[in-house]
Amino acid sequence: MKADVKERVDALLARMTLEEKAAQMVQVPYAMVGREEALRWARRGAGSFLHVLGDDAREIQRAACESRLGIPVLFGIDAVRGHALNDHATVFPTQLACACAWDPELVRRMGRVTAREVAADGLHWTFSPLLCLARDPRWGRVNETFGEDPHLTGELAAALIRGYQGDDLAAPDSILACAKHYLAYGEAVGARDACDSEITWRKAREVFLPPFQRAVDAGCATFMTAYGSLDGTPLTADAHALRDVLRGEMGFEGFVVTDWQNVTSLVDKQHVAADALEASALAAQAGNDMIMSSLEFYESAIRLVREGRLEERVLDEAVRHILSVKVEMGLLEHPEKEGDRACIGCAEHQQTALEAARRSVTLLKNDGVLPIGPQTRRIALIGANADDIRAQVGDWTYFTHPLPDPEHVPVRPYTTIREGMEALCAARGAELTYARGCGAVPSDLDDLDAAVRAAEGAELIVLAVGDEISQVGETKDRADLALSGRQEELLERLLALGIPLITVLLASKPLAIEAAAARANAVVCAFNGGAHGGQAVAEALFGEFNPSGRLPVSFPRHSGQVPVYYNALPGWHPRWGTQESRYCDLPATPLYAFGEGLSYTAFAYDGLTMDAQALTASVRVRNTGHRPGLETVQVYVRDCVSSVLTPVRRLIAFEQVALEPGEERTVRFTFDRMDFSLVNRQEQRVVEPGCFELMIGHSSRDEDLLKTEFTLD
Ligand code: NOJ
Repeated sequence: MKADVKERVDALLARMTLEEKAAQMVQVPYAMVGREEALRWARRGAGSFLHVLGDDAREIQRAACESRLGIPVLFGIDAVRGHALNDHATVFPTQLACACAWDPELVRRMGRVTAREVAADGLHWTFSPLLCLARDPRWGRVNETFGEDPHLTGELAAALIRGYQGDDLAAPDSILACAKHYLAYGEAVGARDACDSEITWRKAREVFLPPFQRAVDAGCATFMTAYGSLDGTPLTADAHALRDVLRGEMGFEGFVVTDWQNVTSLVDKQHVAADALEASALAAQAGNDMIMSSLEFYESAIRLVREGRLEERVLDEAVRHILSVKVEMGLLEHPEKEGDRACIGCAEHQQTALEAARRSVTLLKNDGVLPIGPQTRRIALIGANADDIRAQVGDWTYFTHPLPDPEHVPVRPYTTIREGMEALCAARGAELTYARGCGAVPSDLDDLDAAVRAAEGAELIVLAVGDEISQVGETKDRADLALSGRQEELLERLLALGIPLITVLLASKPLAIEAAAARANAVVCAFNGGAHGGQAVAEALFGEFNPSGRLPVSFPRHSGQVPVYYNALPGWHPRWGTQESRYCDLPATPLYAFGEGLSYTAFAYDGLTMDAQALTASVRVRNTGHRPGLETVQVYVRDCVSSVLTPVRRLIAFEQVALEPGEERTVRFTFDRMDFSLVNRQEQRVVEPGCFELMIGHSSRDEDLLKTEFTLD
């Protein structure tokens, strides 16, 4: 902590009563308490509020500034895909969709736009990025992740944090980032949201900690503790996780906020505390600085200290962390972030969101039917998701979170796939017929016959399938990843027409779309592309741009095949008499692999070199097709012999190259020795000398990679 910051914090702390310290640690849920109660909390000296917008925030801030010590409150909000809880803000693709671009700079720009809009609303802090790994697609929150890989997640998270926080936390358009949910929340057993993550600390350090370390290194000001538990210890009560590891080893200096009602959950869900007093003591001692929504913490903390059951210095330490961030961000001088509200949803910001949507489109199969050429005159567009803005944006927006809100109608600009295709068909003089067919959940509006009739005379069918908002988010884990409702039946009936068919997947996660993958002429993955996702899909179909998305997550063939993440550990018994590890009834390979994604051009690789002394590698990449294209060159490593099991391969670097037709480029990489490290049985990250295999190529699939072995001393 800088000396001048420390001095100011110490001076403030010395003047605070026990009550004011306890209040500083409280984050008040505005929607739950209402205006009057919120104002009372502000006067009492509450440290923070969440989910307050615009003028309501300004009123609360005035009350806080008029309190005895006048310490301004921090306003936190889930601006996780743009400032999307504000109904005029720019709505970006989800983290998962953005991750398909594999482009840290694009993600940084999304963070900048979000920061400007949040700050212009007078708010200070977004609960983003989310660094959980999507290793089990049944989990309801896969859409909020950057996918399954620690390295890609870390790179994108660091960029997003830089975007939110800018160069200076005190700048009028900088906001605080929050790395969440610490730790291993996405690994909950059975993908049951907030359940125990049945893993060891060695595993946590190997797989789940690295992205969080990247967040600390990027200067992330705040961390959020996960709802769940790691090997039976709730993260909210885990002093080892918060004090020894996060602060002691990782060097985190900001403040830690719990997730929603985590303290209450210690009593009523996780049963590790008998009452609010015990839970509050556990949470404070473990090293949580700010307590989200469990308002009983306030009275409990005061009583615990008065009764000698909790040392006041524990509160002092937490308050010090919170005040340090407040001082560093200039909150004491400027209680409200200021900016021109006209920037909220402005044309320039919408353009960045459109660019992100375009970059997220990932082409997974194409037998040549795409891009749609001028000779195609009659197109049938089928599927509810082709015209459902709620399914398209996903959750955490003003009209979709926590549940679709009938009070809130989506505000333009936005474009569904149907609207995007109508515009492009009109421009090209092609005829577009639309029929809903069915959605992802059964509805009275389902009409498969009408869809078949609409498709009958067409030369090409575009079918949008996927999931919808009731299947997305917290508490929406799925047991079955197959296309839900009557979507499989709709697909079969349309395939039976014998007309070329393109499947567009508009979904929050990888779904098991094996029939579409096998029998459609093309498959396009759009995930949740935000307000402009429909336009991006339509443009990709018509070849207005060349899709360059690469999957940040693997697709299973079937729910029973989960997990299928690419960086698995070896050792699955091969079937007797063969070299192949597999289920009796399914291969081991995913339907679509991590890193996979096609283009309207093609790329060839050769000339792989590795210099083990200099720790550099290079490879030649050539655009062998007829269109300019963007290739994502991926570098994987395997430790040939190691003291603990290490993945069959894991990503350590990637680089994007834009190549004109026929153009060739040598792409070079420089590694850090620790890129080849593992976490040993003593939980130390070390490089074990010996043989390694370096693999560079187009995706994580074995057949897409050039390989070379090298030795490290
Ligand atoms: C619960 C979610 O788990 C977390 O991601 C979010 O930031 C908080 N609630 C605040 O809404």
